[in-house]
Amino acid sequence: MARRKKVYEGKAKILYEGPEPGTLVQYFKDDATAFNAEKHATIDGKGVLNNRLSEFFMTGLNSIGVPTHFIRRINMREQLIRAVEIIPLEVVVRNIAAGSMSKRLGIEEGTALPRPIVEFYLKNDELGDPLVSEEHVIAFGWAGQQDLDDMVSLALRVNDFLSGLMLGVGIRLVDFKIEIGRIWDGDYMRLIVADEISPDSCRLWDIETGQKLDKDVFRRDLGDLADAYTEVARRLGVLPKSGMQVSKPTLIN
Ligand code: TMP
Repeated sequence: MARRKKVYEGKAKILYEGPEPGTLVQYFKDDATAFNAEKHATIDGKGVLNNRLSEFFMTGLNSIGVPTHFIRRINMREQLIRAVEIIPLEVVVRNIAAGSMSKRLGIEEGTALPRPIVEFYLKNDELGDPLVSEEHVIAFGWAGQQDLDDMVSLALRVNDFLSGLMLGVGIRLVDFKIEIGRIWDGDYMRLIVADEISPDSCRLWDIETGQKLDKDVFRRDLGDLADAYTEVARRLGVLPKSGMQVSKPTLIN
């Protein structure tokens, strides 16, 4: 295969030039980082699981009319995506207090929030991705007012979709982060969900036991991260071909 041009390398993924203009190949690495890369490890199989899980979530979103960058999976570690201009904000939706919100505001982890709360963090590793207000976003030109309205509405639709999906397999969607990008169809600009959706960027708690099935397992040294992600994939019926196959109900005529 011809050598591809690397466009960008992040902590958990690499982007390569795609086969056609306006496309990219997104490669999922096995690297896990936390606390702005202060903590780092390689976790066998994480990239494969996240590639499959992100495909699963993004395909589902596309099918209900929530636009995403996902085009198709290429192989175990790579997917074809639409190239977007990433808005430099991490959009976080919280259903239950946890993580930095609990720490910042002194709200006990696990407290149900009265409604989903949408937050924006500036994507800037040097500053440690600080929380910013909508006023900051507008004043510093990271996005416009219409973009903000569209981002909130996209984020809440993703929240409804993912919460329902997870509830169906006995998992509570505590919070998650998405990234959003711009694409142009001629003069018409619209916002679509980009980056990835995986247990790296969500908090997922088992409804019965409260067991954590997301990257907090790595952040907080709670056990084997690949086992946790495999459990999420198994419950959703999404597993790499070489992995154990779950039996699905078959239709009987
Ligand atoms: P937080 O409680 O640490 O602010 O995280 C909120 C959600 O965002 C949680 O589901 C994990 C996710 N997240 C990322 O995807 N990337 C990050 O860099 C951080 C800090 C959080």
